Amino acid sequence: MLLINAGIVSAQNETAAKAKALVSKMTLEEKVNLVVGMGMNIPGVSQGSGTGIGQIEDKVPGAAGTTFAIPHLGIPTTVVADGPAGLRISPSRKDDKNTYYATAWPVATLLASTWDTKLVQQVGAAMGNEVKEYGVDVLLGPGLNIHRNPLGGRNFEYYSEDPVVSGKMAAAMVNGIESNAVGTSIKHFALNNQEKNRNTVNVVVGERAMREIYLRGFEIAVKESQPWTVMSSYNKLNGTYTSEEYDLLTTILRKEWGFKGLVMTDWFGGRDAVAQMKAGNDLLMPGTPDQRKAIIAAVNAGTLDVKVLDANAERLVNYVLGSQAFKKYAFTNKPDLKAHALIARNAAADGMVLLKNNDKALPVSTAKKIAAFGITSYDFVSGGTGSGDVNEEYTVSLVQGLANAGYKLDEGLTSQYQNYVTAEKARQPKKNFFEEFMNPTPRITEMETAGLIEEKAKAADIALITIGRNAGEGSDRKVENDFNLKAEEIKLIENVSNAFHAEKKKVVLIINAGGVIETASWRDKVDAILLAYQPGLEAGNAVADILTGKVNPSGKLATTFPVKYDDEVSAKNFPGKEFPEQATKGMFGMPQIPAEVVYEEGIYVGYRYYNTFNVQPAYEFGFGLSYTSFGYSNLKLSSADFKGNINATVDITNTGKAAGKEAVQLYLSAPGTKLAKPQEELKAFAKTGLLKPGQKQTIRFVINAKDLASFDTESSSWVADAGKYTVKAGASSSDIKQSASFTLAKSLVVEKCHKVLAPKMEISEIKK
Ligand code: BGC
Repeated sequence: MLLINAGIVSAQNETAAKAKALVSKMTLEEKVNLVVGMGMNIPGVSQGSGTGIGQIEDKVPGAAGTTFAIPHLGIPTTVVADGPAGLRISPSRKDDKNTYYATAWPVATLLASTWDTKLVQQVGAAMGNEVKEYGVDVLLGPGLNIHRNPLGGRNFEYYSEDPVVSGKMAAAMVNGIESNAVGTSIKHFALNNQEKNRNTVNVVVGERAMREIYLRGFEIAVKESQPWTVMSSYNKLNGTYTSEEYDLLTTILRKEWGFKGLVMTDWFGGRDAVAQMKAGNDLLMPGTPDQRKAIIAAVNAGTLDVKVLDANAERLVNYVLGSQAFKKYAFTNKPDLKAHALIARNAAADGMVLLKNNDKALPVSTAKKIAAFGITSYDFVSGGTGSGDVNEEYTVSLVQGLANAGYKLDEGLTSQYQNYVTAEKARQPKKNFFEEFMNPTPRITEMETAGLIEEKAKAADIALITIGRNAGEGSDRKVENDFNLKAEEIKLIENVSNAFHAEKKKVVLIINAGGVIETASWRDKVDAILLAYQPGLEAGNAVADILTGKVNPSGKLATTFPVKYDDEVSAKNFPGKEFPEQATKGMFGMPQIPAEVVYEEGIYVGYRYYNTFNVQPAYEFGFGLSYTSFGYSNLKLSSADFKGNINATVDITNTGKAAGKEAVQLYLSAPGTKLAKPQEELKAFAKTGLLKPGQKQTIRFVINAKDLASFDTESSSWVADAGKYTVKAGASSSDIKQSASFTLAKSLVVEKCHKVLAPKMEISEIKK
């Protein structure tokens, strides 16, 4: 083992030395070319439009960016492409009959809800294979910003409200993708928790919340997967753009966590190229001529030490030397999309969450005739919009999936809906990426069903209703008609439920959304609710797998579903305030409005808030039903006193009648002697194998010193208080099945950190 590690380290040192030698041979212009990307083609923005964007011909059409080549030194161009839900490239090319589709994988919120890091790593390995076979060097993902608020427009690209889930999932994804010897870029580092004013907003956050909630997932991902690259975010953090913040990118990321790779900006992120260089933001993407000029001028004027530029360029070359481009890999442009679709389907079914299942409404025998309502049943949403959208060959709609599974559909209803959806979609304006980005097309309105429902309730055996949502980069979601259902949707649920229940028939509701919606006001009307998220290209087949019972649902929520939006503690500080009088014009004439958001909820994000402040959610963090039941027994700790670490084991038994998997969660309640503590915090989780009825599995967790600790702002260190700690094995954050405790005799300083990134103003954080 030691020998192998020594081998890796010496190969790393060799590459670093080679990179240093190459940079020493470069002219100033060459170094600067390297650290500023080659620009970008933006559809709809023509060459020389005065934007200062260096336009280029793409090596892989539709990729997000490329780095400069220096042929006489053997340095090739490398290609980076989005994004978390799959490889985003153009599906077709000029004068080329071939297609270049990629797999649209289930979105990150769904993957997190599998609570299965092995499965996420398997998805990553297949996703990374497409990256490699399409000639791309780095996939711009995974994203792991925290779901601070349910309206966050990009929440679907992120995993969870909890940093341990986010960090572990991201690490699994990076390890999977990078097993193909291609890179990843964990993003957006950090505190990019909203889209509103994302290029100007100053996030004001306390050091403890920053370290424990918002940086912790990145820390776990860096330490457990050492990604090739990190992408800094657009926003400011306590006054400074993250891409210009030395203490974030160098002091914390590199010195404290040991990150060895490259940092790139988000696209056009930050303002000051020279400050970015000094902060350790090695690569400016996609790169503009103005940035190049500014860096050269600063070196010439002596305001930027060339050694700083050299260090950034060396890290860039270090990355290039490991890339497939450098190795001249003969990519095929033919990944095995069929095999990947199967992996996507299985992963999708494993992350769907059964929220309600009264009187065993599900599973449904395929002998039943189904009436499918809601436009989304016919126009399923595979993934979110913006740069996180993938160009897949197809999306299996719900009705297609049902038909594939052998269900009979009410044909009259199906053709009526299909005609309606086709006609309405044809009437929507055709927009290019940029126009859609600026002004997303709303989903079409529900079809008028008056007079139709009663007839269908007589003819069919069961009703399905799908409620669909989409969101993405550029804007956040809204409370009305988005988080809350539209009046027409409520009416549909009411009418269908009344009519079918009058015929003693059941109603199943499917939520096809990347994130959270309101459920409490209408959930009593339906018999079952399945949260299908945005499940990728095999959507309808994966939903059908759950409905038939081929797959027993085992997904659990990785983010709380509140009763109402105002129950969210962050609601009063989302998306913060704007200062329109200070607005300036940004790129493409877009207004840049300075803004500020203050994280007054501190560490009380998600279940940490709901549990500590006794606010009842609609569905709690960690919740999810199954077609079987599980017993928890025999929780044992390796010791009653903490000395270095403690092992916890718990037995999980399938006590029901169907084979199934259980997501087991380990929470810790810590003594709040010096620092106030949330009621409980997730420290570890695991998914059982597929347990047959009666079968038992022992799950083992390790609790280490950092798991006991909180970040003490006063001493800038992770401190574990002396006292009694309770370990809780739970089926969810409030369904605790077994507890056991241990004692820490003397308080511990687990880790000393740098005193950095303190807010420049007083924050009135909520107190327990
Ligand atoms: C997004 C990034 C993305 C980049 C490149 C930006 O607008 O915020 O997540 O990777 O574009 O497409």
